[in-house]
Amino acid sequence: MKKKLTLKNISIFLVFLFLVIQSIRIDKTTEPVNSSTDFIALTSANAEVVNTLKIACYDCHSNQPTYPWYTNIAPVSWWIKHHINEGSHHLNFSIWGTYKDKRKHHKLEECIEMVEEGEMPMSSYTLMHGEAKLTDAQKLQLVGFLKLKNAMPQPEEEQH
Ligand code: HEC
Repeated sequence: MKKKLTLKNISIFLVFLFLVIQSIRIDKTTEPVNSSTDFIALTSANAEVVNTLKIACYDCHSNQPTYPWYTNIAPVSWWIKHHINEGSHHLNFSIWGTYKDKRKHHKLEECIEMVEEGEMPMSSYTLMHGEAKLTDAQKLQLVGFLKLKNAMPQPEEEQH
C-alpha cells in the first residue's frame, strides 16, 4: 500500500529529519591565545579597540570563537561554522604575526574598508549579537587605530 503524502506524514518526516541531523555536530575546539602571533597582543591597542575587536570580529576571525547555545542546533550550527571557517580563512587575527608585511597592509586596508562601509561585522551576526552592532564612535575609533597601524613603516620597508 502506498503511503499518502499528507501534511501529517510530511511533518513527521521533518521532525525525524531534524532529530537525525542533530547527530552531526560541529567541531568547537578553540586554541589558546598565542601572544606571539595574536593581533591584539602584538599591536598594543587600547582597551576600547580591544573590546570592539573581541565582540565584533574575533568570533569569526580568530582561533577563539565563542559558541552560543544555538550553535548546538543543526542546521544553524553548520551555517555558523561555515562562517567561522570562511572568516578565519580570509583573515585570522590569531596568526597575524605570521603574515608577511605586504599581507598585513592589504588586510588592514580591507578591514578599514569593511568597517567604514558597515560590511563587517556581518549583518546576520549583529542580528544575534546586538553588542557587536558598532556605534559611529566605535567605528571611528577602530578605523583610526587600523589606519595608524597601516601607516607604520614595516621593518622590511625600512631597509630600502
Ligand atoms: C559572523 C562572522 C564574521 C564576523 C563577526 C566578522 N567577519 Fe569579516 N568575514 C567573515 C566572512 C565569512 C568573510 C569572507 C566572506 C566575505 O567576504 O563575505 C569575511 C571577510 C572579511 C574580510 C575580507 C578578507 C579578505 O581577504 O577577503 C575582512 C577584511 C573582514 N572580514 C574584516 C572583519 C572585521 C574587521 C570584523 C569586525 C569588525 C569582522 N570581519 C567581523 C565573517 C565575519
